Amino acid sequence: MIPALIDLKRSDEGLMAQLTSQLRELIASGRLGKGRMLPSSRRLARDLGVSRNTVTYAFEQLAAEGYVEASHGRRPVVAVDGHEHIERTGTATSSVRSARPRLSPWASGLKQTDWPMSYQAQLKPLRPGHADFREFPNEVWARCLRRSAVGAAKRGLGSVNRTRLCEALAHYLVTSRGVRATAEQIMILPSAQAALTLIAAALISPGDDVWVEDPGYPGAAAAFRASGARVTGIGLDEQGMQPMRGRAAPKLIFMTPSHQHPTGRLMSLARRTEFLGLSRPGKTWIVEDDYDGEFHYDSRPVPALQGLDAHGRVFYVGTFSKVMTSDIRLGYLVAPPALVSTLEIAQRHIGLIASSHIQEALAEFIADGHFLAHLRRMRRLYRARRDHLVEELERQLGGMLSVEVPPGGIQLIARLQRGRTDRAAVKRLVAAGVETRALSSLALGQPRDHGLLLGFAAWRESEISAAVRTMASCL
Ligand SMILES: Cc1ncc(COP(=O)(O)O)c(C=O)c1O
Repeated sequence: MIPALIDLKRSDEGLMAQLTSQLRELIASGRLGKGRMLPSSRRLARDLGVSRNTVTYAFEQLAAEGYVEASHGRRPVVAVDGHEHIERTGTATSSVRSARPRLSPWASGLKQTDWPMSYQAQLKPLRPGHADFREFPNEVWARCLRRSAVGAAKRGLGSVNRTRLCEALAHYLVTSRGVRATAEQIMILPSAQAALTLIAAALISPGDDVWVEDPGYPGAAAAFRASGARVTGIGLDEQGMQPMRGRAAPKLIFMTPSHQHPTGRLMSLARRTEFLGLSRPGKTWIVEDDYDGEFHYDSRPVPALQGLDAHGRVFYVGTFSKVMTSDIRLGYLVAPPALVSTLEIAQRHIGLIASSHIQEALAEFIADGHFLAHLRRMRRLYRARRDHLVEELERQLGGMLSVEVPPGGIQLIARLQRGRTDRAAVKRLVAAGVETRALSSLALGQPRDHGLLLGFAAWRESEISAAVRTMASCL
């Protein structure tokens, strides 16, 4: 009779796992009662048409879990009362039917925001925010990874040569980005977003005021809101974020001065100095997110705002997602000296630890010159792609879109003519195979502008031309 209750299928789950779970369910539901003797493994195997090993494995597993008692040479006997089991565990089957979870207020709000944006699984032109992973020197990177893994035995468990990457990075940031940094101030994290989470956890109390750019990077508002901050979006003008003169300075200001996200605007020196003046009394912190400041095409990269700060009030955040590939999952934070030790402990508490193998591989990638070589090559390539996208948009859609040519970065904004809303246009474009993002979706309050955020770095010129042709036929 037991074989009639079992239904085994050829599937990925495997016969052993299926037989075990079906027998377990028969016992747990009370259909095979306590004291019931199961058939011998030889007999059950024959009746089910499976190997004896399969049945022996299932019996041993159920005995280990306490569902049956089995002793050598005897048929197994059911050891639990299914009805009691249901009362204790509240379930008669292995499938879990749970009540609607009561989420925290923070988690309840997560799905109401437009971030992170749900893109389709496959990357499509002209999705913004991506570097070209096809151009990444994967063979060289693989060699660095291999050497890091092999060298792990020599380095010893847990003894990440952290300073090697921090020192290489400090040297790069000081010489190429004008940051004031020692290796001790650098914290390697799994992403720039992790750096924002860490800063928020260390500094923000519920109700603290935080200013962010509007439109701006939604991940920043999300990180500070998660700590209970009152986040206010501050508008932009040609010089970048406005300093809101006459208003009480907040606890923290988040900004992307080298290349404002998403407009690409560069914050003027006068504006930078004004913001540093706001932070000087010692109550306001500034977070400078230099997520793609490496990519400047029309002039030398602008030195970081953090390098102008003599009072230790500025955090400098960076990521390898754009310079290398988003899959690398490494970002970093240059912390003000007074906060380094607190942040290091907080990092362990929150668990924002980056893999030591990858850190070691990256240290080697930088030390051997591959990082700067890749950066130089990508700067040339992305500049040509930016120019190509701008030309194509002007040629094919000039009357309909006006393009703000960014001096750097990996994406640009094409503004729609007055009266046209961007979300409807984005929907049509996505359906036609061109992925873009609505500028209005990056607004904190009432959107002031409508436009399309278009990525150019990740796409070859032929792909860009084809995408713009599709846009012309859709819009
Ligand atoms: C302005 C800005 N900062 C930070 C990030 C996130 O970088 P990461 O992937 O390292 O978290 C992004 C990602 O698009 C971004 O646009």
